Amino acid sequence: MPEIYAGIDVGSLCTKVVILDAGRNVLSSHILRSGGHYQGAAEAAFSGALESAGLRIKEISFLVSTGYGRARVTFSDTHVTEITCHARGAKHLFPHVHTVIDIGGQDSKVIYVNDEGRPKNFVMNDKCAAGTGRFLEVMAGALEVSLQEMAELSFHAQGESEVSNMCTVFAESEVISLLAQGTEKADIAAAIFRSIARRITGLVGKLGLKEPVVMTGGVAKNPGMVRALEEKLRTTLLIPPEPQIMGAYGAALIAAEQSD
Ligand SMILES: Nc1ncnc2c1ncn2[C@@H]1O[C@H](COP(=O)(O)OP(=O)(O)OP(=O)(O)O)[C@@H](O)[C@H]1O
Ligand SMILES: [Mg+2]
Repeated sequence: MPEIYAGIDVGSLCTKVVILDAGRNVLSSHILRSGGHYQGAAEAAFSGALESAGLRIKEISFLVSTGYGRARVTFSDTHVTEITCHARGAKHLFPHVHTVIDIGGQDSKVIYVNDEGRPKNFVMNDKCAAGTGRFLEVMAGALEVSLQEMAELSFHAQGESEVSNMCTVFAESEVISLLAQGTEKADIAAAIFRSIARRITGLVGKLGLKEPVVMTGGVAKNPGMVRALEEKLRTTLLIPPEPQIMGAYGAALIAAEQSD
């Protein structure tokens, strides 16, 4: 029977699964909200990915779990940190990568990758939701638009508005008072992306930017955030076709290596 590998990334906000065949090709992937119940989310996402690949659990040769809730995946063979997995996934798709910026739901990380695709150093912001996907969701809620609409809006900004608070609660009331003063939603949206870009650039500043830079995590699917970050970092970010599954993809690649 050919070998089949799986990676599961139980993130603080979303759970992702990737299934690979023996040639490291993606057979299926699945993304769902973790919903605070990590074990249940892991089981549901894994079942979803197995179903779309037309596989049964006993056909999986090796399963690696990663992410915030990785230890809750009782059915995995081993678990690995998401820093290692994002580095591995990015390196596989972009062999020349030197820096990976992963912005997820709860934290943002800047990872420096060595020639073997292993992390040699990293910096992260994990104190609060500031500068993360969850922060963006709350701000989109305050603007009463979807994340996609918020990105679109930011491209039409004309004024120079500013959102200075990075604490989610204070930033939300700042946005509400800007709206009350009649500030255009487009200007506020652009200001929100710029404020996060400033914060990430501050993280990068600790160790310097080593190009090429790959962006992973769900926030890489937000074109407003990608553009603001590219402008602030003065670089072009390389984005995988599905950046949100990069941790699970890296975990599945590690699963394949472990069973070699
Ligand atoms: N289609 C989309 N467009 C824009 N943003 C998106 C989209 N899909 C997901 N996101 C963003 O991705 C975020 C979740 O990213 P991700 O799944 O990488 O987080 P996580 O791994 O659960 O979190 P963490 O790594 O911090 O534990 C959401 O908060 C949202 O902002
Ligand atoms: Mg994550």
